[in-house]
Amino acid sequence: MRATAIAHTNVALIKYWGKRDEHLILPANSSLSFTVDKFYTKTTVEWDKNSAQDTFILNGEQKTDAKVARFIDKMREEFGITSKAIITSENHVPTAAGLASSASAFAALALAGSSAAGRDDTKEYISRLARFGSGSASRSVFGDFVIWEKGQQPDGNDSFAIPFTNKLCDKMSLVVAVVSDKEKKVSSRDGMRLTVETSPFFEKWVSAAETDLEEMKKAILNEDFIKVGEITERNGMKMHATTLGAEPPFTYFQPQSLEIMDAVRELRENGIPAYFTMDAGPNVKVICERENENIVAEKLSGLAKNVLICHAGKEASVISDEK
Ligand code: DP6
Repeated sequence: MRATAIAHTNVALIKYWGKRDEHLILPANSSLSFTVDKFYTKTTVEWDKNSAQDTFILNGEQKTDAKVARFIDKMREEFGITSKAIITSENHVPTAAGLASSASAFAALALAGSSAAGRDDTKEYISRLARFGSGSASRSVFGDFVIWEKGQQPDGNDSFAIPFTNKLCDKMSLVVAVVSDKEKKVSSRDGMRLTVETSPFFEKWVSAAETDLEEMKKAILNEDFIKVGEITERNGMKMHATTLGAEPPFTYFQPQSLEIMDAVRELRENGIPAYFTMDAGPNVKVICERENENIVAEKLSGLAKNVLICHAGKEASVISDEK
């Protein structure tokens, strides 16, 4: 039994930053993201009774990856199977540079794994399962705007993503300014753990993120791009502020990231509504209205290694299934 699935990566406009349960990957706060069309992972899973071990091939190279190994065990436990997995994955995302390759990777893996096991799981189930690979992967199961509800239950059964699609998705562009495509120094997992354990700003972050999310939902429902942009920018900055309070302090900002932020502010001063956000890496993601995407891309092109214009991406899907 073999199946192939595709999932797109997502960029959080309201960040997930900090876990309340490390083992179950339960977030301290709910988050909201925009799924993007340009970056995705395509993964084939085959459950093979005759293999003696799991195999994971990423972009043509055989890999050993502790997170993937744990996730395969999780799938076997969930699906009640004992077969070994043969996984072939193509990552169309600059790996580990703050572009959330793990989000699309685990969403595609969960969907392909379930389908290859002959199951017809709901997207809600796939989202909950993908969460065990990487929290942000729960959101990559859906397209457009997506909310990952933090949930209340200690077992995490109510912690999964739901679509929050709105017409505004089709009017919005996300311009990625790639500052570096090198592996990040502090992974999001380690960065958020250190923040939770040591930053005095963490508690404040959690309550601010909940307030930002409520305002963001209203702004999206009102199709108010400016408000969406303002909330996105301030939420991202609050998340990054927590890292400066950690012990030892750390930051994902690089000189070029700060220059790009300045350029975005300059665009606004010149009447172009554009707003930035950053994740656990130095790249800057800028949201703007579609009619301004080329102006924004041009402005940032001199400051970044590469500039890519993205639009709303679709939900994860199974593209082939052989029983
Ligand atoms: C800054 O989902 O990569 O991109 O759950 O530990 O695997 P783990 O973390 P991950 O964290 C993403 C953090 C972020 C913000 C976001 O995407 O919400």
